[in-house]
Amino acid sequence: MSTVFRLDSSIRKEGSVTRAVASSLESALTAELEGATVVRREIGLTPLPSTVWAQSAFAGYVAEEQRTAEQKDAVALATTLADELVSADAYIFAVPFYNYGVSQHFKTWVDVALTDSRFAPGLVPLPGRPAYLVVARGGAYGPGTPREGWDHATDWLRRVLVDMWGLELEIIESELTLAEVTPAMEALRELAADNLRNAHSAAQEHGKHLAGRLISAI
Ligand SMILES: Cc1cc2nc3c(=O)[nH]c(=O)nc-3n(C[C@H](O)[C@H](O)[C@H](O)COP(=O)(O)O)c2cc1C
Repeated sequence: MSTVFRLDSSIRKEGSVTRAVASSLESALTAELEGATVVRREIGLTPLPSTVWAQSAFAGYVAEEQRTAEQKDAVALATTLADELVSADAYIFAVPFYNYGVSQHFKTWVDVALTDSRFAPGLVPLPGRPAYLVVARGGAYGPGTPREGWDHATDWLRRVLVDMWGLELEIIESELTLAEVTPAMEALRELAADNLRNAHSAAQEHGKHLAGRLISAI
């Protein structure tokens, strides 16, 4: 049976757009693909310790029997994260935009996974597997907007997920998610609502399409 890996990284539970849109995709998928296993990794509400990365990175230079307890724990966590990734058939990554980039929580998760030997430089560990990146941004960053060029997350995410890991990536974006709660963005609320509706319907379409793809691969 198919296994889908889902990562959530919003630092909030209530009102999270990335969680809601990722759930639209997941529901559409599981409605058609009964019995699919969804393996969840939560790093927004329960982050990985930020010290783990240095421990697992330097453990690689130390003989196994000489590693400290912290290094052993860090390597075990890196192995778990890498296992979760290599054992999945498809991926949903829910990754909000914070301070013009990705959160340190998400960066730590990537950094730790990269210390596992299966994710070493030059290897392509997840070739051609389908992946969906659900992003949400409070503002807008497209061509002609005042902050065009300030999105320092998306290109980096593509580098990691596509160029390094080999995933076949679709991106589902919601912008202007802060319009509802920001008086200065009141004029943008309708556009924001359209944006969110489109993200949910794209997520549902992708969920159905993914189910078909996974069913035909069984
Ligand atoms: C600490 C923090 C920093 C943020 N930084 C930015 C930012 O730099 N640019 C932006 O457009 N939105 C920013 N936002 C807004 C989030 O991108 C937006 O609320 C998004 O919907 C968060 O994802 P979520 O709804 O899944 O929680 C920030 C939000 C928080 C809480």
